[in-house]
Amino acid sequence: MYRCQSHQLTVELLSRDIKNSEPECFSVKITGSVLTLWSYFRGKLGRYPPWPGKIVSPPKDLKKPRGKKCHFVKFFGTEDHAWIKVEQLKPYHAHKEEMIKINKGKRFQQAVDAVEDFLKKAKGKEQPVKDDPHFHHFLLSQSEKVSRNIMISTNLPLIVQVTGSTSIQAADSTAINGSITPTDKRIGFLGLGLMGSGIVSNLLKMGHIVTVWNRTAEKCDLFIQEGARLGRTPAEVASMCDITFSCVSDPKAARDLVLGPSGVLQGIRPGKCYVEMSTVDPETITELSQVITSRGGRFLEAPVAGSQQLSNDGMLVILAAGDRTVYEDCSSCFQAMGKTSFFLGEAGNAARMMLILNMVQGSFMATIAEGLTLAQATGQSQQTFLDILCQGQMASTFVDQKCQNILQGNFKPDYYLKHIQKDLRLAISMGDMANHPTPMAAAANEVYKRAKALDQSDNDISAVYRAYIH
Ligand SMILES: NC(=O)c1ccc[n+]([C@@H]2O[C@H](COP(=O)([O-])OP(=O)(O)OC[C@H]3O[C@@H](n4cnc5c(N)ncnc54)[C@H](OP(=O)(O)O)[C@@H]3O)[C@@H](O)[C@H]2O)c1
Repeated sequence: MYRCQSHQLTVELLSRDIKNSEPECFSVKITGSVLTLWSYFRGKLGRYPPWPGKIVSPPKDLKKPRGKKCHFVKFFGTEDHAWIKVEQLKPYHAHKEEMIKINKGKRFQQAVDAVEDFLKKAKGKEQPVKDDPHFHHFLLSQSEKVSRNIMISTNLPLIVQVTGSTSIQAADSTAINGSITPTDKRIGFLGLGLMGSGIVSNLLKMGHIVTVWNRTAEKCDLFIQEGARLGRTPAEVASMCDITFSCVSDPKAARDLVLGPSGVLQGIRPGKCYVEMSTVDPETITELSQVITSRGGRFLEAPVAGSQQLSNDGMLVILAAGDRTVYEDCSSCFQAMGKTSFFLGEAGNAARMMLILNMVQGSFMATIAEGLTLAQATGQSQQTFLDILCQGQMASTFVDQKCQNILQGNFKPDYYLKHIQKDLRLAISMGDMANHPTPMAAAANEVYKRAKALDQSDNDISAVYRAYIH
C-alpha cells in the first residue's frame, strides 16, 4: 500500500491495453480530504508524459475497476478523468521539475498554470478544499457517457470496450504533449485547407517526413518553410511516398485527385498506401478503394470529426476503415493529428458513421440558431437564453462557442457552412438508399441551402443563423 505524505501524489497512467476493458488498478487509504491532493501521471513505458492531476470522488454510478487499487483522478488543464493505479501516484512538488523537463507544449503549460493556481487558492484557506462544483456537474452530465467501462478523455488513455470489428485506439500521446515516435515511412499530404493545414503542421511538428501538394500551390509555401517537401502533382506525391493522405472538399474533389490527369492513381505501385480523409459518401470510398487496390495499392478511409481549431490542436477524432494494416502503419500520424482513432471495419463504414455524426451536428446547429432567433423574435434576451442553455444538460463547448460567436457576429470559418450542407445532403441520400426517413436532416438542409443562397457558404456553420434573420 502506498502511503502518501502531505496529501500530495503523483499519478502514473494506466497500462493502455485497449482490449482489456478492466484496467489494473490499486486503491489506497488516504487520510484527510482527497480533494486537496494533486498529482501527475507518467507512463509505464515512458510514452505517456507526466501530467498534473488531483484525486476526486468518482460519480456514484461509475464502476470502480475490479480487484486492483486505484483512484479517480481529474487532470488539470484538460479536465479529463481516469482511474489511476495508486502505485503510479507521486508527490507533485518532488517531481515537478522533472515533469516540466519532460513535458512541453501549450496545453501542458496551461495544466501547470492551473495546478499552481489551485495550490495558491488552497494555501490561503484554513480548511482543505472541499469540492469542485464544476467537476461534480461534469461528472453528473458525463455519467451516462462514462457508463460501465467506457471512459472518454481528450488526451489521456481510453478504457474502452471493444465490440465486433470496431476497435478504438486512444492517441496515447498527441501533438500537444510532444512525445510521439514518428514513423520513418515517407508521408504525402494532398489538400491544405482548414483541416489539412493543421494536420500537416502537427505531422511535421512530430517529426514526420512530409511531402505536400495543394491545388492552389502558394498554400504549400508555409509548410515548405516548416520543413515539408514539395510534390509537383498528386501522382508524384503518391509515387514518392509510402503513405499518401488526402483531405479535400467533397466527393468530386476526392475523385478528381485520384482519377484526374496526373492523379494519385498514376503514382500508385504495389504496397503504396492511400488514405482518404475527406468527408465523402460511401460509394465514393468504395470506388476509390477499388481503383487503388486494383493497382496493388492499400487503401484506408479516415475522415475526421472536429474543426479547424481541433485540427490545429492535434485533437481530431479519426474514424478509419478499410485495410487494417494501413491503419496500423498510420499510428504515429493519427497520434499526431488526433486525440482518438476508431477502426470501423470495411471501407465505407467510416464514411457512413461520419455522415451520421455530421448530420446530427448540422441539424443541432440549425436548431440552436432557430432557438436564438426565436428568443429574439419573442422579446427574450439571447444572452440569457444562452446562459440558461449552458447551465442545463445540453451545455457543451460547442454550444457555448457557436452561440458566443453568433452573438458577437463572428462567422469566421472553423468549419465551412458549405461542407456541413454537403454532409447533410450526403446523409439524406444515404437515408434514401437505406429507405430510412431523415426528416430532421431534410429540414435542416433546407435552412443551410437558404444560408448558402445568402452567400454564407464560406462562413462558419454557425452562419446558418443568418438564414433565420433574412
Ligand atoms: N473544417 C472542418 O471543420 C471539417 C471538419 C471535419 C471534416 N471536414 C471535412 O474535411 C474536408 C476538408 O475540409 P476543409 O475544411 O479543410 O476544406 P477547405 O478548407 O475548403 O479545403 C478544401 C481543400 O480541397 C482542395 N480542393 C477542392 N477541390 C479540389 C479539386 N477539384 N482538386 C484538388 N483539390 C481540391 C482545396 O484546394 P485549394 O486550396 O486549391 O482550394 C483545399 O485544399 C471536407 O471533406 C470537409 O467536409 C472538415
